[in-house]
Amino acid sequence: MINKTKPAGTAKLEINGTTYDLPILSGSLGPDVIDVKKLYGQAGVFTLDPGFTSTASCESQITFIDGDEGILLHRGYPIDELADQSGYLEVCYLLLNGKLPTQTEFKSFAKEVTQHTLLHTQMDRFFDGFRRDSHPMAMLTGTVGALSAFYPSSMDSSDPEERRLASIRLIAKMPTLAARIYKYAVGQPFVNPRNDLSYAENFLRMCFSVPAEEYKISPTLAKAMDRFFILHADHEQNASTSTVRLAGSSGAHPYAAIAAGVASLWGPSHGGANEACLNMLQEIGSVDRIPEFIARAKDKDDPFRLMGFGHRVYKNYDPRAKVMQQTAHEVLDELGVRDTPILKVAMELEKIALEDDYFIEKKLYPNVDFYSGIILDAMGFPTEMFTVLFALARTVGWVSQLNEMIEDPTQRIGRPRQIYTGEAKRSFVPVNQRG
Ligand code: SDX
Repeated sequence: MINKTKPAGTAKLEINGTTYDLPILSGSLGPDVIDVKKLYGQAGVFTLDPGFTSTASCESQITFIDGDEGILLHRGYPIDELADQSGYLEVCYLLLNGKLPTQTEFKSFAKEVTQHTLLHTQMDRFFDGFRRDSHPMAMLTGTVGALSAFYPSSMDSSDPEERRLASIRLIAKMPTLAARIYKYAVGQPFVNPRNDLSYAENFLRMCFSVPAEEYKISPTLAKAMDRFFILHADHEQNASTSTVRLAGSSGAHPYAAIAAGVASLWGPSHGGANEACLNMLQEIGSVDRIPEFIARAKDKDDPFRLMGFGHRVYKNYDPRAKVMQQTAHEVLDELGVRDTPILKVAMELEKIALEDDYFIEKKLYPNVDFYSGIILDAMGFPTEMFTVLFALARTVGWVSQLNEMIEDPTQRIGRPRQIYTGEAKRSFVPVNQRG
């Protein structure tokens, strides 16, 4: 239940000789907050924080990140323990319900997700409108939004059962949708899900099986895929999650709010970084060209950034990157493609960057996107599909955060203000008098 903050004193703000008392609130972990809800009403001033570097947008109990210590907890459980000992569907249950499931609870949850993996057959017709070379994220943004046309009853977000069913449907259908996007891009027939396969096995088979032969599932690749999903499941109030919360705060259809999250994730500064990172590693091409790119990343006049490096919150190693690096080695070993040129460039680039004063001073470390592309590339996914897989995995985080927002009694429509620096009031001048 939300609204579990505790009073932690008062902040005093003096403006033009008047002192305003602002409550300080504590959560269970992390920094305290200054509650400025009433500041405008009391003092007639706004706070300004573009990019929200010092702003908490909500109270949440789902994910905690300590950027200095490189800590990521999902409902209190460390990400490396979940990646090592849990499975993606179990993590979905945890994020949605706040606790790890009993065996019976998990069996029922997994069965329900499995029974919602099919898409309405009319959905397939949306693909005919796309060019075959459409960017997969364009197709995902469009088709996830289109799903909202098929579940009008989900519009009643005040109904807990409707919210629960919408969460199940979105988690269940994203792999089917993502696989169809891949098949459409490569011109192969769509493959429907099978109920006897695990979540990751189903997804790999829907992507890579062809009618001409039975698809052999690799347990190592299925485990790597499942771990990839776990590592991308949720991440506090990142750009796409904040987009989902803001879109959902107006009461918009939940599928439309998730489509807004997909759109936000696409950007290369956010979820699009995995695609951009692999393209960068391929552009670097060999270890001896790394210094040239490091220099460009440090050049203030060059917009180039080292993709897969840096993070708004992590000023230490992204704990997901460590697990992703280990998974990359496992996948490459399994596929017998150890020490590909890309992996060599990635490992040398990481080593050089971590020893470089610029990256040390600015606390720029590899993030979740640095190694993920190497795994997906080795598994056979085209680079443009990488962010689709990120969106597939993040869907559970988006729906969990959306549900938490809707269930928050203090929830109101999100409507930020601004500081205006435009023209003061002036009168219209007819065109024949404008000189
Ligand atoms: C994700 O928020 C999340 O949680 C996101 C995510 C999730 O799971 O949801 O973790 C997923 O989006 C990971 C981040 C993926 N993006 C990239 O890898 C793209 C490359 N990284 C940068 O664009 C950047 O680091 C950001 C966008 C990730 C963070 O940007 P910030 O917090 O706004 O930091 P900044 O741009 O203010 O950078 C601080 C300084 C700047 O230099 P100065 O202006 O202070 O001189 O560091 C520099 C930046 O120029 N810098 C980099 C850099 N990242 C930051 N310089 C070179 N290469 C980089 N990658």
